[in-house]
Amino acid sequence: MTALVSGAGPLIAEARGMDRRGFVGVCGGALACAAISGCASVMVRPVTAIDGRVSLALNEHPELARPDGAVAIQVAGMSDPLLVLHAGERRYVVLSPICTHRGCTVEVAGDRLECPCHGSQYTREGVVIEGPAERALQRFAATVSGQSLVIDLRGTP
Ligand code: FES
Repeated sequence: MTALVSGAGPLIAEARGMDRRGFVGVCGGALACAAISGCASVMVRPVTAIDGRVSLALNEHPELARPDGAVAIQVAGMSDPLLVLHAGERRYVVLSPICTHRGCTVEVAGDRLECPCHGSQYTREGVVIEGPAERALQRFAATVSGQSLVIDLRGTP
């Protein structure tokens, strides 16, 4: 399991296209930042999709029961993790955390998502509150089925 480290957005954006040695250095810097500053983080959990869908057992993700709760999942085969956010009683929002301005990784900050690169802010539904980003975050359909959250990776709801 790895951590989606607060403050790592610009580092991750810069790391794309970088060689392995450079990437390891950037990651080490991000982890050191987290250790030193005590930055908040959302743990990234690996998951597997079957037929374009991911099924999350809600009882295995107690963070999602809290109004400000969120988890990040890394779907095998996808390049970036997804954010799963509590959005109400048995309601959840699944978003790409990739900022639509220039591709940094947004961070969960209470009732909003913030981009550390140039300050864009989004609601927990992915709607832009403050630019420079102009477009909403990519959203994935998510429905509760019994005790599981089923995420459809094939499109926007
Ligand atoms: S990349 Fe997010 S505000 Fe610029």
